[in-house]
Amino acid sequence: MGRTIIAGNWKMNLTPSQGAALAEELLPKLENAGCEIVLCVPYVDLAAVAQAIKGSKIRLGAQNLHFKASGAYTGEISAAMLKELGVEYVIIGHSERRQYFAESDETVNLKTLFALENGLIPIVCVGESLAQREGGQTDAFVAGQVRAALKGVSAEAAKGVVLAYEPIWAIGTGKVASNEQADETIGVIRQTLAALYGQEAAQSVTIQYGGSMNAQNAEGLMAMPQIDGGLIGGAALKAEDFAVIVRAASR
Ligand code: 13P
Repeated sequence: MGRTIIAGNWKMNLTPSQGAALAEELLPKLENAGCEIVLCVPYVDLAAVAQAIKGSKIRLGAQNLHFKASGAYTGEISAAMLKELGVEYVIIGHSERRQYFAESDETVNLKTLFALENGLIPIVCVGESLAQREGGQTDAFVAGQVRAALKGVSAEAAKGVVLAYEPIWAIGTGKVASNEQADETIGVIRQTLAALYGQEAAQSVTIQYGGSMNAQNAEGLMAMPQIDGGLIGGAALKAEDFAVIVRAASR
């Protein structure tokens, strides 16, 4: 499948000095990692974390960006600003942004296109609510989110996209999707990619699972055939837990 990537999403946690301290604590623990590692940190932590991970194999990520190059968009951050700080990845369309900050399929699409045009790797998040899962709408809803996010993205560019399947009911709740549920829905996402871009492209895309993934359940999730990595929230704030997850993903 796609290359294995474990990404930490620190969300709105840790000041710059705290973030640098966590990154420094992680360095020796992740030295022999057999997968790609990304830290998606708050904007204001980027410079400090970039300095801390300099020369290591850990990559830097942001949690959002704007879809315009520059201009009168108070409070927003551009791709060029991120790139100058060494950012290579950017989370787009996290369910918390969709829920609390009016992120829509349309803005997710614009941001995905803009990230790709500017050489940033988008980590595009999709996932259903509990009501949708219980109503049997998961597959159709998630496939629709994928199609909407990738509208206008070429097959070649799509190979450089990372997708994260994050069921909303599993985020921050301690209620993880079962290995089979996660694998099955990620399989649906891969089928959607195959329908859009062909089998070869679909097989090469990294599709992560996210939602209460932790040191205890990572190994089981990572053993599933469709799951290419994880997007880790709470457990990414604890160096030892994150290191255990990275080890579970190392092949
Ligand atoms: P938790 O791991 O805290 O459930 O968060 C998952 C997530 O939203 C990562 O983006």
